[in-house]
Amino acid sequence: MYKEIVSGRERVAVVGLGYVGLPLALEFAKWVDVIGVDVNEEHVAKLWKGIDPNGELGRDSFEGRRISFTSNPAELKGAKFIVIAVPTPVDKHNKPDLTPLLSATKSVAKYLKKGDYVLYESTVYPGCTEEECVPVLEKLSGLRFIEDFKVGYSPERINPGDLEHSLQNTIKIVSGCDAESLEEIAQVYELVVKAGVHRAPNMKVAEAAKIIENTQRDVNIALMNELSILFNRMGINTFDVLKAAGTKWNFLPFSPGLVGGHCIGVDPYYLVHKAAELKYHTQMVASGRFVNDSMGGYIAKQTVKRLLVAGNRSAVQERRPKNGVENGEKSGGAFAHGDESALQTFRNLRVLVMGFTYKENVSDIRNTKVADIVYELKSYGIDVDVIDPKADAHEVAEEYGIEMASAASGVYNAVILAVPHTEYRALKADDFASLMVEGGLFVDIRGIRREMEGHFRYWSL
Ligand SMILES: NC(=O)c1ccc[n+]([C@@H]2O[C@H](COP(=O)([O-])OP(=O)(O)OC[C@H]3O[C@@H](n4cnc5c(N)ncnc54)[C@H](O)[C@@H]3O)[C@@H](O)[C@H]2O)c1
Repeated sequence: MYKEIVSGRERVAVVGLGYVGLPLALEFAKWVDVIGVDVNEEHVAKLWKGIDPNGELGRDSFEGRRISFTSNPAELKGAKFIVIAVPTPVDKHNKPDLTPLLSATKSVAKYLKKGDYVLYESTVYPGCTEEECVPVLEKLSGLRFIEDFKVGYSPERINPGDLEHSLQNTIKIVSGCDAESLEEIAQVYELVVKAGVHRAPNMKVAEAAKIIENTQRDVNIALMNELSILFNRMGINTFDVLKAAGTKWNFLPFSPGLVGGHCIGVDPYYLVHKAAELKYHTQMVASGRFVNDSMGGYIAKQTVKRLLVAGNRSAVQERRPKNGVENGEKSGGAFAHGDESALQTFRNLRVLVMGFTYKENVSDIRNTKVADIVYELKSYGIDVDVIDPKADAHEVAEEYGIEMASAASGVYNAVILAVPHTEYRALKADDFASLMVEGGLFVDIRGIRREMEGHFRYWSL
């Protein structure tokens, strides 16, 4: 199979041309003939013009590539090595939603031929490829797994917005359904992954490896977030603590922050789901999800509390913790119940949220936790403006019902630096000051502008 592909007798197809599938398809297309398939016709039209709908790749990435784009899965008939890279989200109950994965599998199954290879790159729980996808391939194609067609799993490790770690320079895990397929699959991927491939013994191992990479990050960030909540109550800055602890050789450099997006905030739920099926309760993994999913609301409440404590001392009945530390969070809120004058002041507060995407320097708004901050602030009747140089305002309105502002207007009681895009990192203290009322609050979620502490009221995780 490898030889037929490199000789140009057979073709590679990539199904799902998003953040993962498009760079892979274009990289393969440097060396072999590729068919790119995506259900989204608008995307396909843009791809023909050399435009990446996600804005990650420039036109040069399309130049000289041996690739055609289509929304018609029947063109898969012309491919022998078919890679599936479609989304694997969770539903509103945080359960795996395999709809796109199974739908893409059905499209592939209809045109599957003897001798074909189907490779999965979508992130799934261990066992999903063999338990869920292979039966669909067999049923719709009428072919037999292993005897007639081979299946493999190779998780993607790309990190959108990261210019250092690319598909080419990051070792890729590959797996197959028998020794022969593993070798063939490894050789095909070695064409594009110059750092080399790691041959996993089977698909389950490869699936598990991917999911724990992201679960490990999720749990570690959750620990930092929990510590940040605790240190806030103690009146010490988490980043000062991390800087000090980080001087030890084996202290891991994780820091608190929002965990959103399509991977770290989602993948652990796939593991939790599979564990529950096996009657095991993954306490640590689930706790990590709980802590990280709560951070947007926590940040919004801390912002509100600081605004009120500073601006409305007369109206506010402060509820200090017993040890008298001012910045500890207490349940019950800062207002005495039914304090109408204070609530009136609440409604006049304006907050600017800078950045909406799930992380810096990407346009991806999927599962962004900034939305939780906005909803929570608005639930107090606060006037919130959201700006972001990367996010598409229409998509934000459609997905979240939040109308973004095209620019900051007037002055705000608080500015929340939610996503430190390069544009925001370049701003000076005076730029932020011009956005705030006298005595305004600067919330630096990730603690990347600590030097601002001397300029105005400042809070970070
Ligand atoms: N984005 C990342 O950073 C990243 C990194 C590693 C792994 N992953 C995993 O890779 C997979 C793909 O993620 P992504 O970020 O590239 O998703 P994406 O949403 O950017 O792209 C998926 C593409 O698949 C298309 N699609 C959906 N259903 C289809 C179907 N039935 N047939 C053909 N095309 C279809 C969509 O139109 C879209 O263009 C997911 O499982 C994800 O968890 C993502």
